[in-house]
Amino acid sequence: MTPHNHAKPGDYADAVLLPGDPLRAKWIAETFLDDAQLVNSVRNCLGFTGTWKGKRVSVQATGMGQPSLGIYVHELINVYGLKTLIRVGTCGGLNAKVRVRDLILAQAASTDSTIVRDHFGAYSFAPIADFGLLRSAAEKAEARGMRCHAGNMLSSDIFYHEDGLAAYGKLMAHGVIGVEMEAAALYTLAARFGVKALAICTMTDCLVTGAEIGAEERQSSLREMVELALEVAVEG
Ligand code: HPA
Repeated sequence: MTPHNHAKPGDYADAVLLPGDPLRAKWIAETFLDDAQLVNSVRNCLGFTGTWKGKRVSVQATGMGQPSLGIYVHELINVYGLKTLIRVGTCGGLNAKVRVRDLILAQAASTDSTIVRDHFGAYSFAPIADFGLLRSAAEKAEARGMRCHAGNMLSSDIFYHEDGLAAYGKLMAHGVIGVEMEAAALYTLAARFGVKALAICTMTDCLVTGAEIGAEERQSSLREMVELALEVAVEG
């Protein structure tokens, strides 16, 4: 038990899906898992454990942004012993070749966050996905006929950037294809504690073209992404 999580040791599986939204965690548990049990509800940041195709797996909400994700992920790894952590989220698009509904696999995560930067002094640490999880997700997405891009994601601490798209110009010029708010902290913690992590995001709003996902498409895209993430997660 921690101040943020009342689960008992053993309540989580080795692998977890990490949506930001607590209600999405509940939806994932109710829609995809068999025998899902609520394991955490502190602050309504819901966590569940159940089975997927007979294999034990958990889902835990992280809240929005790297400070919030950092708390849950730190504890999942160090208090509960989790080994495989897969973020399932949405992101904004920073490249017109990525279409609304496409998946972005965050191969690496650039960031403006001091959480990552301040830890490394003179060095610019490069937060990266676990290669095995990344390869597995890319292969499975291709086999399922999903449009999917592996590339550099921006994990920003700022959703409403004062400078709008211009804020990301240099990053876009260096191949950064999407923006969300959590992957870099996830990858940095996974590296620090020797576990595996991947962030998979559905692109819901393109900052370059202004295209946005519709409500129905959002739901079907999330469904496909979660199925993919569960398949990758239970494989270990
Ligand atoms: N910025 C940051 N995070 C996001 C966005 C965005 O535009 N869209 C979805 N998640």
